[in-house]
Amino acid sequence: MTTTTEATAVYGAGKQSIAAPRKPISLPRLAEMRARDEKITMLTAYDATFASVMDAAGVDCILVGDSLGMVCQGLPSTVGVSLETMRYHVESVFRGLQRSNGTTWLVGDLPFGTYHESKEQALRSATVLMQAGAHMVKLEGGGWTAEVVRFLVERGIPVCAHLGLTPQTVHALGGYRVQGKGDEAAALLRRHAHELQDAGAQMLVLEMVPEPLATSLTEELKTCHTIGIGAGKGCAGQVLVLHDMLGINLGRMPKFVHNFLAETQGDVKQAFANYVSAVKSGAFPDDAKHAW
Ligand code: KIV
Repeated sequence: MTTTTEATAVYGAGKQSIAAPRKPISLPRLAEMRARDEKITMLTAYDATFASVMDAAGVDCILVGDSLGMVCQGLPSTVGVSLETMRYHVESVFRGLQRSNGTTWLVGDLPFGTYHESKEQALRSATVLMQAGAHMVKLEGGGWTAEVVRFLVERGIPVCAHLGLTPQTVHALGGYRVQGKGDEAAALLRRHAHELQDAGAQMLVLEMVPEPLATSLTEELKTCHTIGIGAGKGCAGQVLVLHDMLGINLGRMPKFVHNFLAETQGDVKQAFANYVSAVKSGAFPDDAKHAW
């Protein structure tokens, strides 16, 4: 786990200013940010208060991740999260955003088993989250998911894909470990990423993937913005789980995580602003603390 001393040494040089009012984040605005090489910032949130504070601190995107199964519900993995639980939390976050600037792009995670049966099932599940306030849905995996992504995108639902360590398949992967290592695994991940972009995915979370692979994919994928978590500096944006970046994760803290609250004397809004600033400037993630 990161200590206060390390935190201060890396990101604590001065209080980062909290964002001025801005226009709502949209797909065209994300593409503009990408075109001018501005990093996209994303954090997970699960309730109205944190969402509102993140919005006011200038976080570009909020992911209502199914990680809520572990950090809010105390489940051993994300596998047990239901669509109804996701709907409840997306709606809570959406209401929080209405109380602040309301400019943050809101991504809702489709939980395990809610898009696997058929494209029609995926559409029904995505509809639930979009009607709860999401601007985009996220789903995990490559290969068979490309067809599902195409079906949703053709029906006006923006989609964020997720490759690398995909927590919903943790049992098949044999644990929370780095993915895409070695030529064969890297080639498969690259193929899946291109298929997802070709199917219309506008965003792609790359979780625990070696930095050289994540960086080259970011250069190759022009219309699909890569958002890294434990995937190095080269992605178009970064995401962290809220509880990890506040240093209150009850489990094992991933090596690549930084405790942003440790350097702000408990000022949560400032911790979010410092995260935004560290990602935009390229100071975070830290090369020395990679996961691969
Ligand atoms: O559910 C989640 O929070 C996620 C992030 C780790 C990207 O998928």
